[in-house]
Amino acid sequence: MQKLIEKLTEKTAAAFAAAGYDDTYAAVTLSNRPDLCEFQCNGAMPAAKQYHCAPIAIAQAVAEKLALDPAFASVEAVMPGFLNMTVAPQFLSEYLSEMAKDEHFGIANDPAPRTIVVDYGGPNVAKPLHIGHLRSAIIGESVKRLYRYFGNTVIGDIHLGDWGLQMGLIIAEVRERQPNLPYFDEAFTGEYPAEPPFTISELEEIYPTASAKSKEDEAFAAKAREATKRLQEHARGEYALWKHIMAVSIADLKKNYAKLNVTFDAWLGESDAQPYIQPMLDIIADKGLAHESDGALVVDVQEESDTKELPPCILKKSDGATLYATTDLATILQRERDFHPGKILYFTDKRQNLHFEQVFRVARKAALLSPEAELQHIGFGTMNGKDGKPFKTRAGGVMRLETLIAEITDFVRGKITENQQVADAEVDETARLIALAALKYGDLSNQATKDYVFDMDRFAAFEGNTGPYLLYTIVRIKSILARAEDAPADTILPPQSKDEKTLGLTISRFGEELYSAYTASAPNVICAYLYDLAGAVNKFYHETKILAEPDAEKRKGYLALIALAKRVMETGIDLLGFSAPDKM
Ligand code: ARG
Repeated sequence: MQKLIEKLTEKTAAAFAAAGYDDTYAAVTLSNRPDLCEFQCNGAMPAAKQYHCAPIAIAQAVAEKLALDPAFASVEAVMPGFLNMTVAPQFLSEYLSEMAKDEHFGIANDPAPRTIVVDYGGPNVAKPLHIGHLRSAIIGESVKRLYRYFGNTVIGDIHLGDWGLQMGLIIAEVRERQPNLPYFDEAFTGEYPAEPPFTISELEEIYPTASAKSKEDEAFAAKAREATKRLQEHARGEYALWKHIMAVSIADLKKNYAKLNVTFDAWLGESDAQPYIQPMLDIIADKGLAHESDGALVVDVQEESDTKELPPCILKKSDGATLYATTDLATILQRERDFHPGKILYFTDKRQNLHFEQVFRVARKAALLSPEAELQHIGFGTMNGKDGKPFKTRAGGVMRLETLIAEITDFVRGKITENQQVADAEVDETARLIALAALKYGDLSNQATKDYVFDMDRFAAFEGNTGPYLLYTIVRIKSILARAEDAPADTILPPQSKDEKTLGLTISRFGEELYSAYTASAPNVICAYLYDLAGAVNKFYHETKILAEPDAEKRKGYLALIALAKRVMETGIDLLGFSAPDKM
């Protein structure tokens, strides 16, 4: 289905041509003076330059032709040459009815769908999820859903930090504590225990302890390096113990991401990239791209057109150790071989901008993936506290994600208990849904690159530009539909009031707004649209007697309109990664 402004542009193009002018000037946009008109076309101004005449003359000639088209209620030429348009109620009703008939609202899929790897989450195994992991999960999940909505094959990959010294530290510390475990017995040839020798809470304590110890105790640090080396050589005991660390940690990560409505299709990690490191290095060597610098193996990535300095990308340190960039390059090769993606999208803190710029350049030079495949990094800003500094606990520490979710859920639970709209049995689930909306919308409504301030009172408010306000609007519609005695009309009727028309026009924008969000990988565009839509719904609700309307046909028409608004809003928030309760 064509976007509404595309339909209007087509009609306007025909009018330009009929009036004897080039039809490429016909682009119609939303009005930036909604008090005067609904749509506008400013093409007469540039056209006047080509035809050496007054723009108003062109606008008038086009307006005369357009007046013949029943799609428009009015078309006015105004000085110096604007075309101000409003659409006919009947035209809008037909458009909305067609939208309502289709499950996908008539929104066309991307004509060239691709396989897209979305690399987000990126937690490190055996370390608890904290505030720093929030944004990647929230933004990545939303963009993943958006890509899928437009018909792409999307693989959400968590890309676990599950390899390297961090694992050796844990193994060495477990060994200090439980030296008699069979994993450390070289002579042991039997089957290792199926049960892990630690719980998740023990694991979460083991890592920081080991990390701190390694900084003070050189002997321990050496043991950790040795354990890392043995793990990387797949020594039987270390590898078996690593499998336990992975299983315990992944079970916990799954639980925590589920609380955020975040799910991954692939649970791959840095360890899965290891077999691709040598093949990747070979490709780079074959192409003669790498050279030695102070004993390290590096690839130059600076280009002549660069305005800033870009340091070389280090593939191997002088001691032979590989780095973050090495793993990311190997991962690109792994993804190319396993998925042959048309695009890989990464979501991390923007402090990693340089890292990805270097990695992408090396990947391009070495042609690790096909030249038409896109590599894109979305670097986001920080979630700050009210003091403008990165968000901390009251004690000044890094807050766990679990704690943050629990705090905002408690806060919301308090509010809904006070409001007394929700049955006791539903309170917990309702609080969970509202808290998630508050947290996610608070994040997603900002442009990703910007920092934002976490403000629980503001995020969880039921009014204003918030997630809960969107839910509240959906709940309001649900409640009207539940109380209605008649079924909604099958089609959307021509609007009769200004608020009804505004609501219809706002709904009609859904496809184009989603499409802009999609092309820019920008969920904040969806947020801004949904906020507008909720405003139009509430204005309509306040100005219209919906259930008390005596004319049955009109009443059913109203119900059909708000039911469509509800579907659009529910689809929108699903793309943001949250959903609405029945009551709140
Ligand atoms: N584990 C990394 C970190 O904590 C994030 C991984 C992001 N993805 C990637 N392919 N580098 O910073």
